[in-house]
Amino acid sequence: MNIDRRRFLQRSGLGAVGTFAALARGGVADAVEPVATKAATERDATLAVAFEGVHQAGIVTPAPRAATFAALDVTAGDSSTLAELLKTITSRARFLTAGGTPRRRGAQIPPSDSGTLGPHVPADALTVTLGVSSTLFDDRFGLAARRPIRLTAMRAFPNDALLPQWLGGDLMLQICAGTSDTVLHALRDISMHTRGATQVRWRIDGFLSPPRPSGVPRNHLGFMDGIANPAVDKAKVADQLLWVVKGHGEPDWAVGGSYHVVRLIRMDIESWDEVSLYKQQAMIGRYRANGAPLGMDRYTDVPDYKKDPHGHEVPLGAHIRLANPRTQSTEPSRIYRRGYNYDLGTDVDGNLNMGLIFNCFQQDLIRQFDATQTRLVHEGLAQFISPFGGGFFFALPGVRNAQDWLGRGLVQG
Ligand code: HEM
Repeated sequence: MNIDRRRFLQRSGLGAVGTFAALARGGVADAVEPVATKAATERDATLAVAFEGVHQAGIVTPAPRAATFAALDVTAGDSSTLAELLKTITSRARFLTAGGTPRRRGAQIPPSDSGTLGPHVPADALTVTLGVSSTLFDDRFGLAARRPIRLTAMRAFPNDALLPQWLGGDLMLQICAGTSDTVLHALRDISMHTRGATQVRWRIDGFLSPPRPSGVPRNHLGFMDGIANPAVDKAKVADQLLWVVKGHGEPDWAVGGSYHVVRLIRMDIESWDEVSLYKQQAMIGRYRANGAPLGMDRYTDVPDYKKDPHGHEVPLGAHIRLANPRTQSTEPSRIYRRGYNYDLGTDVDGNLNMGLIFNCFQQDLIRQFDATQTRLVHEGLAQFISPFGGGFFFALPGVRNAQDWLGRGLVQG
């Protein structure tokens, strides 16, 4: 056992080392890591997202206001430590998702919980969604033969200005909740329990604003973002566009998972603010005020490009028209978006450093994300945005029951 593994086992409470060491220090019977000792309160229950299921939460569940995206490197040395890591993330995610009261420890040892949410951890619509990247399938864990067949490193698309410090990571931890303190508490809890086995490579926080005055939240360009999405609440649609299903050549363990794309896209806010409203709307293809497609009335109206073949209403180069031309042949390339805004303060030149955490899920990286991104290469909006980081991940299938854990099928075959 190397040092990292021992530290990780101590913190996760998984090994005898951790339990014995803690008992020796604190001398109290409950000196192992916290478990929920009290059922979630009634209020929490209404805000608690179901943890178990065929698919992970945090994909089709409604996107709450706050999020963080943390790309982690796995520093655990072998596949048994990787399995312990995945079990630990599962048990922490299970507890945090339901909410509850962390177990109290003796005053002589560090508390089991950071306390940032007070003595009771609220459910607060928290979801923890775990994905793996292609690097997890290198020679460290003997998993090469189990890689989802479309999972590769994110390639650089034309107009990308990728920065190494914002790329990569073996795992993607997407944590979403009603408030940012719940998100940060969960991140800190999972970090504390997996220290020694993971290292954060990059991380970015996201937020959604309330719909103003109604509709869906807006991005930093002032436009409603997240209006048009495939109806993944319908099983047939979800099985065609969102989930990996049997019969597509993917490994059996991957069924129920989904390819997860995170792209960090900075916006050139200062230049955008110099553009006329007319041009802004032509670039997007919707009215800024109410989100309706150009030439239509409501944000829920569906554009009919067959009736507008020359782009008199929605220009041919508009973002929404290129992203989804709404033809029979482009239908299979539709993606399911679940994006967040980010704000990283100001850069060294004093410019606003903000943009979009473009976040989408799909059944097939190439047929869907790659095809959509390729159609967007020459869009007008490209002058005002700059993708600088992110990655391609595979969101694992869900946890089926109390004995199951995230990635069990992947690690155990
Ligand atoms: C900073 C970058 C981006 C901004 C500001 C942006 C903004 C928008 C806006 C305002 C809409 C219309 C509202 C809606 O339907 O949600 C939209 C739609 C859409 N965007 Fe983006 N987007 C960005 C990047 C991307 C990327 C990278 C992709 C995919 C590669 C993409 C794919 C789509 C799709 C598929 C739609 C729906 C089109 C439809 O079905 O009508 N967007 N985006």
